[in-house]
Amino acid sequence: FAAVDVIRTKRDRGELSDAQIDWVIDAYTRGDVAEEQMSSLAMAVLLNGMTRREVSRWTSAMIASGARLDFTDLPRPSVDKHSTGGVGDKVTLPLAPLVAACGAAVPQLSGRGLGHTGGTLDKLEAIPGWRASLTLPQIRAQLTDLGAVICAATGDLAPADKKLYALRDVTGTVEAIPLIASSIMSKKIAEGTSALVLDVKTGSGAFMKELAQSVELARTMVDLGTDAGVETVAVVTDMSTPLGRTAGNALEVRESVEVLAGGGPADLVEITLVLAREMLAAVGLDAVDPADALADGRAMDAWRRMIAAQGGDPDAPLPVARHTHEVLAPADGFLDVDAMAVGVAAWRLGAGRSRREEAVQAGAGVELHAVRGDAVRAGQPVMTLHTDTPERFEWALQAVEGGFPVTAEPPAARPLVHQRVT
Ligand code: URA
Repeated sequence: FAAVDVIRTKRDRGELSDAQIDWVIDAYTRGDVAEEQMSSLAMAVLLNGMTRREVSRWTSAMIASGARLDFTDLPRPSVDKHSTGGVGDKVTLPLAPLVAACGAAVPQLSGRGLGHTGGTLDKLEAIPGWRASLTLPQIRAQLTDLGAVICAATGDLAPADKKLYALRDVTGTVEAIPLIASSIMSKKIAEGTSALVLDVKTGSGAFMKELAQSVELARTMVDLGTDAGVETVAVVTDMSTPLGRTAGNALEVRESVEVLAGGGPADLVEITLVLAREMLAAVGLDAVDPADALADGRAMDAWRRMIAAQGGDPDAPLPVARHTHEVLAPADGFLDVDAMAVGVAAWRLGAGRSRREEAVQAGAGVELHAVRGDAVRAGQPVMTLHTDTPERFEWALQAVEGGFPVTAEPPAARPLVHQRVT
């Protein structure tokens, strides 16, 4: 094959053959297809799409570029969750120990944040001593003993995706449904889970702002999982306003621990339970009610053991930012809070990074004192900004400007769960 012929096929709205797809992914991973050629092909895919067969083959080729794990021999059924990413989306933290406490094994291989959405590993690293990197035997042992592990993906899962994602990031080709779906699902299928629950976000703080696009992404990923023999369901959930009341690493750990202690904000608890029930049902454990495990402390016990097993001290005080700044309501009325505005502010305060090698601040972020629909009075604090670097306040305040309107009428309510896709 010649790369230019593969590019021309997709440019002219043709369908790529299995052999073309296998070749181009393999040759790109080996360095025989140049970055500019892959970038051109990615743009052709973004503009002209892919058929179900093409996305499925593309995903298989990316899985075949690296190692494939297998957790089918564990004493518990394995089930994983993936969220397409949102602001304040710390659900993995309470969810993994909760589902483990209910009898499943949760191999949660996670990533770091880039841009305005946070990363699970960055959040957990706010806990003194906690380590993200585990070897495969350590992952297996922890899944067998405790049922939950949240750690960095081992280096050899879907290397083609690692390379392609970095290229898409700088060539305007991230926002293509076939490329997003194959990227996420190649990693999840290679990870070897027997069942998968996808939390596809929709709204201003999500990749996909429109419900129809989010549902299409969910459908594409569910089909890919099903075709690969992984029991897969998706729920499309709201990301037009932040989840819970915090965005930022240590702030989100604190809020997750509140949920595990049986408290926490209602929306965060609801999403955690919706996803826990889907995960348990997917592996035949639907007789167990996860709400009981939150109420009676079993989920908290599983969290403490999971954190300690990875070197963390669950009782250590969490880092606190050195500087805070309160943002006040401009008028009397009803508050709305935009997810993207809060996500960008938290990122600018130091909770996120703009280059892969940057360090994040554990204490930085945004803490909301009021949420969408709350009645507020002029001058009342609606949020506190946290950072170690106070010169960033101005930049963060520009991000929230216009992002927390106060109006005479309450904002329209949006459901937390929009749709379920199987
Ligand atoms: N997350 C991924 O892993 N890949 C994408 O393409 C988008 C989000």
